[in-house]
Parts: sequence; structure tokens; C-alpha cells
Amino acid sequence: MRCRKCPQRAVLRLPRHNTAFCGPCLTEFVNTQVQKAIKAQAMFSPDDRILVAVSGGKDSLALWEILLKLGYRADALYVDLGISGYSDRSREKVERFTHDVAEPCGAKLTIHTIADDAGAGIKELATLVKRPTCSTCGTIKRYQFNRIAWENKYDVMATGHNLDDEAARLLGNVLQWQEEYLQKQSPTLPASVEGFAKKVKPLYRMTEREMAAYAVVNRIDYLVEECPMAKGAKMLVYKDVLNRLEAESPGTKHRFYWGFLDKQKKAAAASSTLDMAHLDQATLQPCDTCKQPTTAGTCSFCRMMARAKTPTH
Ligand code: AMP
Ligand code: FES
Ligand code: ZN
Repeated sequence: MRCRKCPQRAVLRLPRHNTAFCGPCLTEFVNTQVQKAIKAQAMFSPDDRILVAVSGGKDSLALWEILLKLGYRADALYVDLGISGYSDRSREKVERFTHDVAEPCGAKLTIHTIADDAGAGIKELATLVKRPTCSTCGTIKRYQFNRIAWENKYDVMATGHNLDDEAARLLGNVLQWQEEYLQKQSPTLPASVEGFAKKVKPLYRMTEREMAAYAVVNRIDYLVEECPMAKGAKMLVYKDVLNRLEAESPGTKHRFYWGFLDKQKKAAAASSTLDMAHLDQATLQPCDTCKQPTTAGTCSFCRMMARAKTPTH
């Protein structure tokens, strides 16, 4: 198999684009797609300070590397969840990448350790508040990503969610008709109210396979293993279903998610009050404990922390 852009041997076939690329042409393709995403969704400009949430996995480390290579001012945040073994290994990957790749570009890493302010790792916390580990983890990560970006005056907070992540999430939201979540599923969310950082997903045009190939070609040393708490999670089932559809009909994920974005854009254009900024301003107020924006009196993070501190009998 030959690269479709040059005479070299291809390393990856991209059935959804009916093409194949060698390593350097794949790198160029990914860089171009990320730049298109940044532009099409008005994510940030070269002057903005970006905080990338890095987990030690391929997507977020590759995202940090791409942004630095493209000349953006990107620092990173790692949240240590305190999952024995897994967190140590992912933290090691992030620290090594910071030392070898990011620091030479003048970028820095912030580490937030859950156990430092919650008194326990994610597994113990989930048991204390009697909620599944993954949803406890999601609430804490979202909260800390936003708080740290906001308090440190970053213009934007970026995550490594890719097309597979977004299509699987969309499928879940549609299957359960989670209309409120559907409204919030966009590659760019504005800094709509005081205390809310702007949030972006610059890899929404890239599939998981493409990012894995990119990471290998560019020698990014990432943690291959998945979080042990994620086994059996619904998202993995949705991803599997979409992969089977994709194998039958290449481009399915792409059409599903981009079709949704297109409809969302048209709906927002037709109504000036349907955009995220208006919706947030109408529904959010400062949490009565921590002052971060929330739809309830006390935000879900503070409620969770209060429950974790309440002694059980
Ligand atoms: P996941 O929810 O594990 O699929 O991760 C989605 C994105 O969230 C990743 O691409 C990262 O940008 C970010 N992320 C996940 N876990 C962490 C973590 N422990 N620390 C910092 N960022 C994370
Ligand atoms: Fe959150 Fe595994 S990454 S529980
Ligand atoms: Zn709060």
C-alpha cells in the first residue's frame, strides 16, 4: 500500500476519506485537521494562553505536542486521581513528556492531586458518596479543570476528546434523549459567565485510530492501558457499536457527529437565545459554597465533598 500523497509506503489507511498516508503525510494531515478545527470553531488565537488537560493517554499528549509545534502558548494540567498503579504510571508518562518535549518549548505542567484536598483517592471517594467511580471522577475532573483554568487566568481549557469520544457521547445522549446534555455537546463552549473557562476539543475531527497512528509515528510515549475503573462503562459499548457500523459503512461516525453539529449551528442561528452563552446566563448562579457557577444552590462538587465528609453509621 502506497501513500496517496507521495511515493512512500503508507502506514495508515483512512477508509472514511478513501485514502492512505505515510508517516510524514499523516502528521501533516493531522496538523491541518487540528488547525481547521481551531478556525472553524473559533477556539483560540496565537496570543491566547491555553491549558491542556493531559491524562497520559495518546490523545491529550498528542494534542499538547501538536499545539506546541504549531506555536501556541500551551501549558498542561494533570489530575492525579489516586488509582493505585494506574495513576502512578500515567503520571510518569506525563512527567516524562513534560521534561522531554514541553519544557524545551517553554511550557509547564501543573499537577493537582485529588487526595490532597478530598482526603482520599477517587475509588474511596466514590464508595463514600455511594456513586459509580466513573461519574464521581467525571464531576471532579470537570470541576478541577474549570477551576484551575479560571483561577490561573487561562483564556481557554482544552481536552483531548476525539471523534470517537464525541460520537459515542452523542449516541448515549440521543438514546436517552438527554436534551440538556445535547445542547452542551459542542467542540467549543464559551466562557459564558463569571467563573466559567472557555472549553475546547481541538481533536473532534480526528478518530481514535488516526490519533493512535499519529502518536506512534511521532514517537509520543503514552500510556496504552485504559483506566481500570472504565471496564464495562456504557461509553465503551457505544464506541464498539459505532466501530461496527463504521466497518460496514466508513464515515458513519463522521457523518453522525458532524451532522449533529450542523443542525446545532442552524438552530442557534435561527434563535438568538438558543446559544450556549444565553442558556448559561439564564440558568447558572454562583455556588453558595465555592462560588463556581452551578444550576443548583450548591454545586455537585461541593455536595459530593460534603457527603464524603459526613460520617456514615
Ligand atoms: P477520558 O474522559 O478519559 O476519555 O478523557 C478525555 C480527556 O480528558 C482527555 O483527552 C484529557 O484531555 C482529559 N483527561 C482525562 N483524564 C485526565 C486526568 N487525569 N488529568 C488531566 N486530564 C485528563
Ligand atoms: Fe475516571 Fe477512570 S478515568 S474513573
Ligand atoms: Zn461549589
